[in-house]
Amino acid sequence: MATFKIQRYNPEKGAKPYIKTYQVPIEPGMSVLDCLFYIKENLDASLTFRASCRMGICGSCAMYINGLPRLACETQVSSLGTETVEVKPLPNYEVIKDLVVDLTPLFHKHEKVKPWIIPLDPVELDQPTLEYYQSPPQLEDYLQFAYCLKCGICLSACPTVATDEEFLGPQALAQAFRYISDTRDNGFRERIQIVDTLHGLWRCHMAGACAEACPKGVDPALAIQLLKRRAIFGQKKVQARLLQPPVEPTPRPGIPKAPEPTLKKK
Ligand code: FES
Repeated sequence: MATFKIQRYNPEKGAKPYIKTYQVPIEPGMSVLDCLFYIKENLDASLTFRASCRMGICGSCAMYINGLPRLACETQVSSLGTETVEVKPLPNYEVIKDLVVDLTPLFHKHEKVKPWIIPLDPVELDQPTLEYYQSPPQLEDYLQFAYCLKCGICLSACPTVATDEEFLGPQALAQAFRYISDTRDNGFRERIQIVDTLHGLWRCHMAGACAEACPKGVDPALAIQLLKRRAIFGQKKVQARLLQPPVEPTPRPGIPKAPEPTLKKK
């Protein structure tokens, strides 16, 4: 059995947050999220939390587990090494109910940095006739930052967000870097104007807590440092070339030819 100490809070009832204790029978392979579902289904249906994919993809189940922000579905109870598991909502956000926090500031800040490709050629993006060529090293420049789940964990780990709620924060800044590093993008000036501000990238104190907490191994602290460099020295000049897509795939040595299609084109 494991003891779960969970912070409960229902603003509609006007009560202050309090801790409620539950006993959960643990089986090998159980995650903290499995235990929360056990509690909801067997002990207390009023317990409120968010979850969706249960496989570390959607980012919904981010919460504060044993003093660290983590994904509940990715956290094995056995890996915590304690008989008592403390679960609280993510810090640095307003609590809506129990373990559910209001992620509006996260999405609002994310949206501010224009997290989409601002095309070199808008016509080509809407009605493509050619392909953007991006080499593997150019992809590597931003790939790890594209793994961001938008779970909000980095903002809850960040000491600067805790003291300056207007600070854009590691998630938005890392995404700003992700897009300006993409050779298909043409939004460098627009984004630098947004991040090179009072509550922008220079507010980062380089605590590195965001990078340690990220469940996907993204390093927003690194992105912020690289972004500072770009803010000072300007954009890298390399931009993606438009190429004619190959009509027939080039056969690679050692790979057998694909079988003939069973359905013929009309
Ligand atoms: Fe989707 Fe945990 S439920 S990341």
